[in-house]
Amino acid sequence: MCFGRSTVPEHKRNSSRCDAPTPIPANRQRWSLDSLDWQAISSNPARESETLFYLVTAASFIESTTDRYTANLIAQFRGDNEITSWLEQQWLPDEIQHGHALRRYVQIVWPNFDWDRVYISFLDEFSAHCGPGELEPTRTREMASRCVVEMGTASYYRTLSLISPDPVLATIAGQIAHDEIRHYKHFYRYFRRFQKTEPESRRSVSIALLNRLRMIDGQDSFIAMKHLYRNSHPCEPFNIRIYRNLRRRSRQLIEPHFPYRMCIQMLLKPLDLSPQVHRIALPMAETLARWVVP
Ligand SMILES: [Fe+2]
Ligand SMILES: [Fe+2]
Repeated sequence: MCFGRSTVPEHKRNSSRCDAPTPIPANRQRWSLDSLDWQAISSNPARESETLFYLVTAASFIESTTDRYTANLIAQFRGDNEITSWLEQQWLPDEIQHGHALRRYVQIVWPNFDWDRVYISFLDEFSAHCGPGELEPTRTREMASRCVVEMGTASYYRTLSLISPDPVLATIAGQIAHDEIRHYKHFYRYFRRFQKTEPESRRSVSIALLNRLRMIDGQDSFIAMKHLYRNSHPCEPFNIRIYRNLRRRSRQLIEPHFPYRMCIQMLLKPLDLSPQVHRIALPMAETLARWVVP
């Protein structure tokens, strides 16, 4: 899993708003659940892969939590109508749609899995044990941090679309990857804008990038995997050894197709390195990424 996007959830700041449903305004999405050919899922080779089940279902859980942690992100940019409108009217509906599409896929392909019940147990823990992440102290740094999140999800879904034995899942993952890349471009553009009005040093931007990188494959994915594992192994305690084992299996599936170069290019972009430094840094960072990500 490659998300690391949880920030302190809104309910941690204001518990009275914990269960308030987030309104999803009309949006301008490129695709919808109705545009997908769900009938094409029949005797499905994806059904046989337990690792794929973990990857897709954990992603569906994490995407579905977006409205839980997004209010504080929007609040940080309150007053900047262009950004808050985009977050509320495009980015949030996109992310929620990602969760809905993946959930429907899981429910069709693995019909014995009770998505709603396990999601509630996941959400219970996810809400009570938020990740260590917080918003960055400045808007410029937060935009850089958001680029890392979208880099992670774009890389993840692009890989998922490549490894999927099922064309429907490949299409869903491909559409989501496309959205995540668009999100990255928006956040990067806003980052550049803030760099002009509220500049941050390269060192400071690096810290923001590293802070967010450290959250990749963090608490959100651990909690998701735990609840999925417990559902199928109700008598076994979940621990770090089991988690690492699940990760190792995921890695074996993902690694040959993971777009390391794209990932590193997206990561280095906010640092605005000179072409010479970029040329030197790229292969070094790519080598490093092969050890760290996913
Ligand atoms: Fe997403
Ligand atoms: Fe996104």
